[in-house]
Amino acid sequence: MQIERLHRDFGAEISGISLIDAVSSADAFTKVREAFEEYSLLVWRDQPVSDDIQATFSRGFGPLELVKVGSVGHGTFYSRMNNIGTDGSIVPSDDKAMIVARANQLWHTDSSFKRIPALASVLSARVIPTQGGETEFTSTRAAWERLDTSEQSRLRDAIAIHSYATSRNKIDQNMMSPAEHAALPPMRRRLTWRNPTNGRCSLYLASHAGAIEGMSAQEGAALIERLIERATDPAHIYTHSWRPGDVIMWDNRATMHRGRPWGGDQPRSIVRTTISASRQDGLDDVLPELWPQRAAA
Ligand code: OGA
Ligand code: MN
Repeated sequence: MQIERLHRDFGAEISGISLIDAVSSADAFTKVREAFEEYSLLVWRDQPVSDDIQATFSRGFGPLELVKVGSVGHGTFYSRMNNIGTDGSIVPSDDKAMIVARANQLWHTDSSFKRIPALASVLSARVIPTQGGETEFTSTRAAWERLDTSEQSRLRDAIAIHSYATSRNKIDQNMMSPAEHAALPPMRRRLTWRNPTNGRCSLYLASHAGAIEGMSAQEGAALIERLIERATDPAHIYTHSWRPGDVIMWDNRATMHRGRPWGGDQPRSIVRTTISASRQDGLDDVLPELWPQRAAA
């Protein structure tokens, strides 16, 4: 198994071991899990991907999320995002699938708005446009470590409110159904998440975060925007240009990502599996409700 760094801040390409082999031997898995904790973003190339392979690999890291109400794949492990209609034609730009794609083009971390936030996401691109459609990533751990210590001590215990409606409203006020509104109330999250395996903190930010407790709406939104801007400075971005057979896994505690646009006449189909965070992943640190049990920082 080889590990090759992708960006100064984070990310590594794993080669010499397939996705399935990575979770079927305890020795291999220990190394992959260590690489995940260290690099936050792991890329595999040339994998024979199927839903089964993707789910088996993903489950090695923890319990899988079920896709939420209102998304394609609801109630399964597979979030399917594509612009291909049932008759095989490309959907028009006002189709829900394209609105979802535009929302994914805001910097975010997956499932920060869910009752239990996500540890990691695994994404495979099944159909790739010839141009565009890249996915960009940044390390929010590196972003945290770039802040000076006075900013860090001011922000470490801040609490942000994450809501799916916050990010969707930036794209289309009518995007969410009543069932989605009912299933996805706003959630309180610490603005930082400490990784218990190495003690390193990251900013826990997303387009789903809209307010900061104890700040005016305007002040909180401005702080979130400024922190996202600083985290996503071009020098700190890794851009993934997809090739068939690529699979990427990222740590939602320590990264943000966004999709990039592509030509509206080109098909694109991606499938995501998402792993829920557990106590061993530092959940007590990020959920204010669990703070009495949290480890000392
Ligand atoms: C996702 C996501 C971006 C993309 O799958 O979680 O944000 O490039 N994807 O499609
Ligand atoms: Mn995403």
